[in-house]
Amino acid sequence: MGQEEPKYDAESHVKRNPHPDFKKVEASRPQWRDDHSARMTTQTKDPSWKIGQGGNDKDDSLTYEHVEINPDAEGRPPVSNYKLLISAIIPRPVGFISTRSKDGSSTNLAPFSYFNMVNHDPPMFVVGFSGGWHQAKDTLVNLRDTQECCVNIISEHFVEAANSTSIDAPYGTSEWAIAGLHPAPCSIIKASRVKEAVFSVECKLYDTKEFESRVKKGEKTGVMAILEGVRFWARKDAVNDEMNLLDPNVIRPVGRLGGISYSRLGDMFEIPRPKFDEVKKEEDNAHFVSKVEGQ
Ligand SMILES: Cc1cc2nc3c(=O)[nH]c(=O)nc-3n(C[C@H](O)[C@H](O)[C@H](O)COP(=O)(O)O)c2cc1C
Repeated sequence: MGQEEPKYDAESHVKRNPHPDFKKVEASRPQWRDDHSARMTTQTKDPSWKIGQGGNDKDDSLTYEHVEINPDAEGRPPVSNYKLLISAIIPRPVGFISTRSKDGSSTNLAPFSYFNMVNHDPPMFVVGFSGGWHQAKDTLVNLRDTQECCVNIISEHFVEAANSTSIDAPYGTSEWAIAGLHPAPCSIIKASRVKEAVFSVECKLYDTKEFESRVKKGEKTGVMAILEGVRFWARKDAVNDEMNLLDPNVIRPVGRLGGISYSRLGDMFEIPRPKFDEVKKEEDNAHFVSKVEGQ
């Protein structure tokens, strides 16, 4: 299971790493900056922005041209869509998923950045697995067999370990030992949560949907799993007394970018949401139309 065919998104096929000698390139770079005080909450770029103003770049972005890309164009390999999209839809949160085999004889841990929350009552999450059911990754096999998993959020303080769990280990080899991360018990599910994680969610499998290639008819290319969160675990120093706000300076999440790149949180800023009735009272009616020029 999962091992009969090569993994759909194997490194040898995708070639995410652009560096023939990665260690040499990394050694030439500045060291990790451990200066958390450098991160600030700043003003927005244009605090005096007015309704209808548009961009804050003096329309510079309007001087560039776009190229149209058909994802299914003849001769365009699907891996080009993968590489383009993972470099465009950024930064992506990473669901670091812990599962257990049905008989409990093996455990699994792996990162997935086709991941997000899509609802909060009930708490619902989606995860996308590359490859159809016939190529199911170990996480998906366990998820299907046990109907449960624990999604952990990756923080800076264990990013190398988390990345190491993306290794193409055969089913039954636990990435927990490879990573050196520590399991902690969950409450509702049998899989462990990652003790190093600042925030984890115990999940039950809600539904799955398999996708088929548009270019290679009949080829199943991905499975989306919808998960329902049934328990949250938050590190005490990161969560407020009402248990409804997590401190970004404690969780320090990492985002996934294109290729083999990750990102850290940078400076933050706040912008209140506008209220239609209030804005309408203050603004010129020209801003309240059913279409604008060019549409
Ligand atoms: C940061 C990161 C994000 C990833 N996101 C995904 C993803 O969203 N979907 C996917 O199928 N594989 C993704 N992968 C690859 C899997 O982690 C990798 O195939 C892993 O071996 C799967 O483990 P498993 O077979 O033990 O489940 C990602 C890898 C990394 C490092």
